[in-house]
Amino acid sequence: MKILVTGGCGYIGSHTCVELLEGGYEIVVVDNFSNSKPEVIDKIKEITKKDFKFYEGNVCDKTLMNKIFDEENIDAVIHFAGYKAVGESVKYPLMYYRNNIDSTLTLCEVMNSHNVKKLVFSSSATVYGKPKVLPIKEDFPLSTTNPYGSTKLMIEGILKDIYISDNSWSIAILRYFNPIGAHESGLIGENPNDIPNNLMPYIMKVATGKLECLSVFGNDYDTKDGTGVRDYIHVVDLSKGHLKAIEKIKDTTGIDYYNLGTGKGYSVLEIVDNFSKVNNVKINYKIAPRRPGDIDACYADPSYAKEQLGWTAEKGIEEMCRDSYRFVMKNK
Ligand code: WQD
Repeated sequence: MKILVTGGCGYIGSHTCVELLEGGYEIVVVDNFSNSKPEVIDKIKEITKKDFKFYEGNVCDKTLMNKIFDEENIDAVIHFAGYKAVGESVKYPLMYYRNNIDSTLTLCEVMNSHNVKKLVFSSSATVYGKPKVLPIKEDFPLSTTNPYGSTKLMIEGILKDIYISDNSWSIAILRYFNPIGAHESGLIGENPNDIPNNLMPYIMKVATGKLECLSVFGNDYDTKDGTGVRDYIHVVDLSKGHLKAIEKIKDTTGIDYYNLGTGKGYSVLEIVDNFSKVNNVKINYKIAPRRPGDIDACYADPSYAKEQLGWTAEKGIEEMCRDSYRFVMKNK
């Protein structure tokens, strides 16, 4: 099978490309480097010792996307490309709606016109909003509190309507929890082009001396130690989930939703503590005000993905912390 990976030079995209190549798939990657770097292409090739076709450009560019589907015999698509920073989306909603929705509409139109109707979509646990009950199951109520999350929820709705209009589509919507960690080689990892938004990139800036101390956004949440609890999942486990999704959709039609999480929640201070212990590095922190829009706790019930995809996260928090640190130390 030949898989088109949009955003394949990004954090999760690049790790998924490695797993796809090592799983025997042919891949084609399209990326505009808006939140990734060109050198990732060679890193993927170095890790896998495999080659693949790369197209630089924006998934919103219909001419480019038609060119790719005309030139390449694509069997299925994994769609990562999109902006993903919650805070940025609040400041620039129009940019987020234009980019994330437009790219998906263009992709689906071009897929349809080339009779390619197998799609894995990168969604997010953020579509669950502030869950009333934990752990979170796929049939929980959906709501969003920021434009980034709203683009994900809107795209889920668009994909559902596409399937309703044409039952020959096969769509897997993967709702990620909190991806951290990096490939064991240390060659690829989370390397945002600008100011990080997420916890682990900030911890890594403190670990490498680029930041004096970590701001812990609130310690008065309704959690074990008052700091925010999230379901952190190793990016390699998450990437393997995409191969399981491809296996699921390649011989079936339908649309379904899968939580890709570990089912275990860790607080901010637990992450800091684990990171420090595993890597023998002190992470200074100070308690800061809550970040607007943050929720107390969020973690998955991953049993449906296990049952339907035969997928379970295998790597523990220590490995996530060790692999994150190895990457940042090799790529200072
Ligand atoms: C995790 C915890 C913060 C930074 C978001 C998106 C989600 C997905 C992952 C894209 C929270 C705390 C963080 C810091 C801190 N992104 N924190 N100090 O907000 O759970 O999820 O990123 O798909 O869709 O919503 O992740 O890493 O930003 O925060 O205390 O400097 O760390 O308050 O409790 P979040 P995060």
